[in-house]
Amino acid sequence: MKKTILTGLRPTGNLHLGHFFGAGQNYIKLQDDYQFYLEIADVQALTDNFNNPEKVRKNVKEITADLLAIGLNPEKVNFFIQSQIPEIAELTVFYSNLVTVSRLQRNPTVKAEIAQKKELFGEKGESITYGFLGYPVSQAADITAFDGELVPVGDDQLPLLEQCREIVRKFNAIYGVTLKEPTPYLSKTTRIKGLDGNEKMGKSLGNAIYLIDEEETVTKKIMGAVTDPEKIKKDDPANPEKCMVYYYHNLVNSEENCRLVCEECKKGARGCVACKKELITHMNEFLKPIQERRKKYEENPELIEEILKKGTEKAKEKARMQMKKVKEAMKIDY
Ligand code: TRP
Repeated sequence: MKKTILTGLRPTGNLHLGHFFGAGQNYIKLQDDYQFYLEIADVQALTDNFNNPEKVRKNVKEITADLLAIGLNPEKVNFFIQSQIPEIAELTVFYSNLVTVSRLQRNPTVKAEIAQKKELFGEKGESITYGFLGYPVSQAADITAFDGELVPVGDDQLPLLEQCREIVRKFNAIYGVTLKEPTPYLSKTTRIKGLDGNEKMGKSLGNAIYLIDEEETVTKKIMGAVTDPEKIKKDDPANPEKCMVYYYHNLVNSEENCRLVCEECKKGARGCVACKKELITHMNEFLKPIQERRKKYEENPELIEEILKKGTEKAKEKARMQMKKVKEAMKIDY
């Protein structure tokens, strides 16, 4: 029997290079060898977008199209929509007894997110909602509803995985061994820097290249990317390690070309504008096959609907079976 993978993505925007080189590549690699459930986590997205349901709804399809475009095969990956699986909501209620409020308040991921969302949750997090504070519990329900053993995620998700493992251990200790403790599966490159040199590429930071970006947009963004600030003139020698253009060459250009870029940059034999133009060509080449695959789904949106419908049906079956075990263990199997 193949082991089960469960992972999720919040549908709040399109995928960018950070997603691709982070989790995306892992998904592609893992899809052949595992029973793979991929959750479009719309309920989780609503925890901090409860006032913007249109945005979440639109992005369910957008993100599914992006994932198909990077090469996930819907025959191998079971795409499903979180809100359509009532068992996840039920499990969230049961697990909420096994988690203290202070433990959630100490969760580093949740803490960091509350600090970022001041307009929603207040300057000091004083307006935090029950739902947002509790989303790690709901994420534990996502994972365990499908008996997820392996969870491919970025390192920012490790505290959430740890929270899930704690819930599983507590559940098993009280109600008898029923649930599996999931293991995180980290990406080799867990984080891609932004065009501005920021440690993280992110939508809110405005420093991302999206997989759907057209040539013109890519050109504009790369032309504005941060280079070594000490390089003033075209033939000044510079330090490629301080240059985001070199950093991105390493993602989409060949090893041999990158070596050349590095050498020439250090010698002052390469101007930044020419170097950026070269990167633009390679970036567009990298994005082209992804965008071509995406086009098929853009032109036939009913294909996406069909994939989500079929996947959600299959996910429902699995969650129903798991719920039966949980209710028996908890002695609420009336
Ligand atoms: N919290 C994850 C994110 O923000 C998304 C997610 C939801 C998830 N449910 C999950 C990840 C279950 C792993 C497992 O990206």
